[in-house]
Amino acid sequence: MYSREVIEEVLSKTDIVDLVSSYVKLKRSGSSYMGLCPFHNEKSPSFSVSGQKQLYHCFGCGKGGNAITFVMEYENYTFLEAVEMLATKAGVALPEQKYSYEDRKDKDIKTKLLEINKIAATYYYHCLKSEQGISGLNYLSGKRGLDDKTITNYGLGFAPISSGGLYKLLKEKGYTDDILKESGLFTYDAKVHEKFWNRVIFPIMDVNNKVIGFGGRVMGDAKPKYLNSPETKLFDKSRNLYGLNVARSSRKGNMIICEGYMDVISLHQAGFTQAVASLGTALTPGHARLLKRYTDTVLITYDSDEAGTKAALRAIPLLAEVGLNTKVINMKPYKDPDEFIKALGADAFQERIDKATNSFMFEVSIVEKRYNRSDPAEETAFEKEVANMFLRFSEKLERDNYIKAVCNSFVIPLEGMQMMVANLGNKMGIVNGAKYNASEPSTSAPKKKIESGVRQAEKLLLTWLINDVSIIDKISNVIKPEDFIDPLLNSVATKLYDQIKMGNPNPALIVGDYTDESDAAIVASLFSSDLDENLSKQERERALNDIVRKVKKNSLDTEFNTVTDAIRMQEIIKEQQKLNEINIRL
Ligand code: CTP
Ligand code: MN
Repeated sequence: MYSREVIEEVLSKTDIVDLVSSYVKLKRSGSSYMGLCPFHNEKSPSFSVSGQKQLYHCFGCGKGGNAITFVMEYENYTFLEAVEMLATKAGVALPEQKYSYEDRKDKDIKTKLLEINKIAATYYYHCLKSEQGISGLNYLSGKRGLDDKTITNYGLGFAPISSGGLYKLLKEKGYTDDILKESGLFTYDAKVHEKFWNRVIFPIMDVNNKVIGFGGRVMGDAKPKYLNSPETKLFDKSRNLYGLNVARSSRKGNMIICEGYMDVISLHQAGFTQAVASLGTALTPGHARLLKRYTDTVLITYDSDEAGTKAALRAIPLLAEVGLNTKVINMKPYKDPDEFIKALGADAFQERIDKATNSFMFEVSIVEKRYNRSDPAEETAFEKEVANMFLRFSEKLERDNYIKAVCNSFVIPLEGMQMMVANLGNKMGIVNGAKYNASEPSTSAPKKKIESGVRQAEKLLLTWLINDVSIIDKISNVIKPEDFIDPLLNSVATKLYDQIKMGNPNPALIVGDYTDESDAAIVASLFSSDLDENLSKQERERALNDIVRKVKKNSLDTEFNTVTDAIRMQEIIKEQQKLNEINIRL
């Protein structure tokens, strides 16, 4: 973690208008700039950037924050990555992070492994482009239909037959066998062998475009078809997805998960840059969490054979677990997206995306295959199995919707199914009574509360303060930061009062304190709002007094409800009686 001072320096040396301009076309509008929001689809600009406050805010989708959150959101960086990027841009030298001896040693090894991988990737790439790589190049561009740009962008390479070149190169550069052993690029027995030879090479990159491992494919039918780097200090298969370095900024509103290197590359080449693959391993919960960082909807395009179907059925609950909405793309009669696109092209694939099946319906369709539904006993067993599946939806509305949709498309009598699900639910103690209780607790996120008038008043007062810091002197004997009852607004008020007292209010810095995205957006929005300038002084005064009284009244009422001290209680009552006497002059 960097200190507050460092963050402050990075923010002060970054101009948000310049920064955002490098991503979004901005036009001056009054004291700020407007453009098309990069975080949602829109045709007329509602995205505003203020140079004075160093904040952005979208009046359409509500996203907002400072330079750091902008980079986090746009580039899908973590907080630290965003700070580091902005520091580099602004020429701020970040202090060395402190590491323990073990961490230090580990970091040194990782740094060396990254260097080695970079050298190896460059070596393989040059081999592909040299005479000894002709067979590899023919394979990739001829047989697999990859264009030059794709080959370069994905850093594809070739490991030649006469092996030994990479080892020699790395030894010349001074790397010891100890570290080379850890790279996974060589096997050590009586002699040192290169792991990859006579194969086309797919460098595997992490989200920051660093090479962390390799996959190599034979050009014919030899076995094994693919060889991959073993797990190393850098390469953790359960936490990395091939293609994520590109897909993470694709902004397609979904991510496509497929099985192989070639699927990802073909999809990207055809414009579906949101495709990623788990690398020769089944999807893990780590992968699901990683995907959730970048999208809400995942489209599965695993191979259309039995293994692919099984893999999809295993992946669906993992994706659901982290709250991802999941659909399954049907690629029949082709085996995988690579073959599909080669045969039918990108438009046909887009059609399949549009027609992707909800993952629950997909699961039901797989269950259905196991039954001969023309036999009444089997039909009943099928319906019972499906009825059980509905019990995973704990929310009545969602469950009912699924029951309706499934009964409709699988031709199951609706009422019968509804009764069966209800009975099963009762038996399992999931719901009480014969009928579902409309107010049963839901496990999903609570719906947005309607904003209370008090919270609105607290927000308005903060907006007022940031737009006209001089009023703090006029209200500070009535309203203290403690009077803001909403926890988020209370913490904002505390910070803002402090800053104003120190003489340098800095909204962007306050926004930066909120690591929770939705908190940061709320804070940015209240700092980005302007007061109505068409009001007369008198009207403004009245409005301010209303707000102040409302905030104070709520604060007193809240305290009164919890206070135990009799003397304080008397004081509160007195203050409550004097609320109407509050009269602030602008
Ligand atoms: N895989 C692997 N080792 C193998 C076979 C496959 O690691 N022996 C991994 C690779 O990451 C590969 C993915 O599983 O990309 C999917 O394998 P498969 O469906 O067999 O191959 P395709 O992706 O269709 O490969 P290609 O199109 O090159 O034949
Ligand atoms: Mn394939």
